[in-house]
Amino acid sequence: MSTSLLLLLDLAVGALCAAAWIGAAVLAAMPAARRRTTATASLAGLGVLLALGQLGTGLLLAARGWGFAQEKLVFAVPLQLAVGVAAAAIAVPALLRARSAPLPALAVPALVGAAASAAAGILARVLIGYPLSPLAAVGLALLVPLAVWLTWAVLRRERRQLIGASALVTLLLAGSLGFAWLTDVAAPGALSSHAHAAAAAPDGVSVTDLRTPADAPGTLRHFDLTARHETVTSPGGTEITAQSFGSLPGPELRVAVGDLVEVTLRNEDIEDGVTLHWHGYDVPNGEDGVAGATQDPVLPGESFTYRFVADEPGTYWYHTHQSSAEGIRRGLFGMLVVLPADGILEAVDLTVPLHTFGSSVWLGEADTHRVRETAEGSSVRLRFVNTDQVPHRFRVTGAAFRVVAVDGRDVPGGTEVTDSALRVPAGGRIDVALEVPYDGVLVTTDASTRASLALAPEGSDPSALEAPRGLPDLDLHAYGDRAGLVLPERMTEETLVLDRLPRVFGGLPANAYVVNGAVFPHIPNIEVTEGQVLKLTVLNRGRDTHPMHIHGHHVLVLSRNGVPATGAPLWLDTFDVEPGDSWEVMLVADNPGIWMDHCHNLDHAEQGMVMAIAYDGVTTPFEHKQISG
Ligand code: C2O
Ligand code: CU
Repeated sequence: MSTSLLLLLDLAVGALCAAAWIGAAVLAAMPAARRRTTATASLAGLGVLLALGQLGTGLLLAARGWGFAQEKLVFAVPLQLAVGVAAAAIAVPALLRARSAPLPALAVPALVGAAASAAAGILARVLIGYPLSPLAAVGLALLVPLAVWLTWAVLRRERRQLIGASALVTLLLAGSLGFAWLTDVAAPGALSSHAHAAAAAPDGVSVTDLRTPADAPGTLRHFDLTARHETVTSPGGTEITAQSFGSLPGPELRVAVGDLVEVTLRNEDIEDGVTLHWHGYDVPNGEDGVAGATQDPVLPGESFTYRFVADEPGTYWYHTHQSSAEGIRRGLFGMLVVLPADGILEAVDLTVPLHTFGSSVWLGEADTHRVRETAEGSSVRLRFVNTDQVPHRFRVTGAAFRVVAVDGRDVPGGTEVTDSALRVPAGGRIDVALEVPYDGVLVTTDASTRASLALAPEGSDPSALEAPRGLPDLDLHAYGDRAGLVLPERMTEETLVLDRLPRVFGGLPANAYVVNGAVFPHIPNIEVTEGQVLKLTVLNRGRDTHPMHIHGHHVLVLSRNGVPATGAPLWLDTFDVEPGDSWEVMLVADNPGIWMDHCHNLDHAEQGMVMAIAYDGVTTPFEHKQISG
């Protein structure tokens, strides 16, 4: 059974358990003449059984990852077993004995207590999630004695007791809500420890010092990018209210290893401001383009010049990192290709970004079918890039291909692929190499039947090639050659549990995207020292896919859902954590700075799923109120 289903099953068993206890309590509270003793006793027995059932689902979940099961096994199950068994021990013999006589005073309150313990278990799952802190556990557990007290007072018509118990319940609820609100509005956020550490750590370094000097060695390649509002009519005839760098997508920046890349960003009229983030390119921290962490947003009329030395060949992209969900959606992005110093093997080299502008899906520079004349037998590299918020599948029909790189890192030893699609997470890139046959090649995606790309030798018509339906996804974790990979012996373990839970976010209640139960800016940083190696375990308890993106670093995939990676080492900057997934990845802390780590479904990032990896001794003078994806 999938972990997602198991999580649902566990919740369902918990809900049934609560229902059984509530049923038992209601039946037991009936006047003696109408009481149905056996049914009541059976419901109580069922309650105990369903608590045991939760022990079972909890243990199964723990085997998939402790983060799936913690609050169930350390809190919900023990509490329900203790209270449920006690309630059954008090109520069942009394019921069977009393038949139509009055029940002992504690029988009904005990059953209500069991129902409250089941309810507390559900709240632990759907309200608190992982991790359940001792304070939250105590708060939830208090519901049980309060429910018992309240029922007892009601049944005995003790007015003063009733008032006392209700007052305490109200206090507990108001206290927890107030606490949740205060921790959101009063706590300064995780980055602030780095904002104010400058004085405390005189030998520290500011992100503004982690920049590339203008006279760094390399062949200077200068580019200008100006952000502005623009209305664009797509090749397919759709009018797009865009924000652009002059074209859709923005100009492709092509450089080679050894170049000193210099890009001056100007903002003409984007009110919220813009920045440039080099997605997947591990630049020095001060060039990373994160408003609020490494610079201020570039406001209308302002400019900012980025510099980095090209040293890692591969396929990357750039985009604004200010109000980025909207900015990227509307067009503030473009491709960045870094060629090896001696070029690539393939004769034809094309970037194939996939992007959705409203109702118009673009593959490359158009939302239509495009034909590119390519001689039979020519070798081609296609660089697939997904700039959307959700994963997409690319399909290549007409020729076998090899995957040669993923997220800008070479994949050695790849075999020919003919019958698989390529699933590219939001923000991810996959490069393939192929040879164009006599009948040509067709590239299609799951995003549109209209936008496609044909590589066509003269006289051929690859648009007639049809991608077979229901192609499986190529399993990159078992693709290519792993030989020569040596892992460090010591890794520091960190766990990130992704979920969607009700939280106070920006002072308001929200159904937010959380990491370890918290939302931006309150998610604790991952604090590292240079040279440290981390093993990150990332679990997804929610029902959304989270393309987790780490700035400034690539992570090596160690395993997914308990299955160790066996293919060529996969160094990713974006890994797609699907519902119920558990990933283990390795991160080598070799690029000092304060680096965002967030979901690249930027709508999720805007609803809280943003955190940072912060190096010891690195400080930032910038304010993080604006960080968004
Ligand atoms: Cu492509 Cu922080 O993002
Ligand atoms: Cu997400």
